[in-house]
Amino acid sequence: MESKRAAAEQAVEYVQDGMIVGLGTGSTAYWAIQKLGSRVKDGLGIQAVATSVQSEQLALELGIPVLSLSDVFEIDLTIDGADEVDSDWNLIKGGGGALLREKIVAAASKELIVVVDHTKQVQRLGKFHLPVEIVSFGAGQTQRKLQKLGCIPSLRLHQNKPFITDNGNYIVDCDFKEIKCAEELESSINRIPGVVENGLFIRLASKVMVGYPNGSVQEL
Ligand code: 5RP
Repeated sequence: MESKRAAAEQAVEYVQDGMIVGLGTGSTAYWAIQKLGSRVKDGLGIQAVATSVQSEQLALELGIPVLSLSDVFEIDLTIDGADEVDSDWNLIKGGGGALLREKIVAAASKELIVVVDHTKQVQRLGKFHLPVEIVSFGAGQTQRKLQKLGCIPSLRLHQNKPFITDNGNYIVDCDFKEIKCAEELESSINRIPGVVENGLFIRLASKVMVGYPNGSVQEL
């Protein structure tokens, strides 16, 4: 917990008065939102765009004004977590099921600061099963198409029922073991009809902050 908190809090130091800030989702982004909330209480004037219903609720509870992404021309800075980060700063995201909104928000941001603990750094992506958001119609078909790309897909469940995203879709977690060409795979997956988006984030990160259990943070 200390590692995630340290990375998240250091990232919040980049937030300046007047900015529109993208709020990530997950247990690391949680600490960033908490810290932003306390800076807002101390007078920091920002507005936020959230990547999930959960993060939006937390922001509102903390007194952070939240805008709809549709009403925003560009986000100055987004702070979000990741499930894996490779040496080129490509990411796997979506462990919390928010990958679609996270990718839309990241793509609308001038800067994306990725906040992780040291366990998330990998040589090559793929040990973490790649989350893919799909529509419920024909979900079995879509999973078989995903399998043809070389993975073992499994439908994410919650209390024995399909997990439903904030967008009303399903998540399939794809075990690729090791992803050799992440950029190519990102496009191949998104070409499958029924796939909405996948959790490969290629060249979207502008900075990575890695937290360690002793509270130190390495900025990449
Ligand atoms: C949610 C995400 C999260 O950022 C990712 O799963 C990391 O989560 P955590 O900070 O809890 O380890 O992509 O969809």
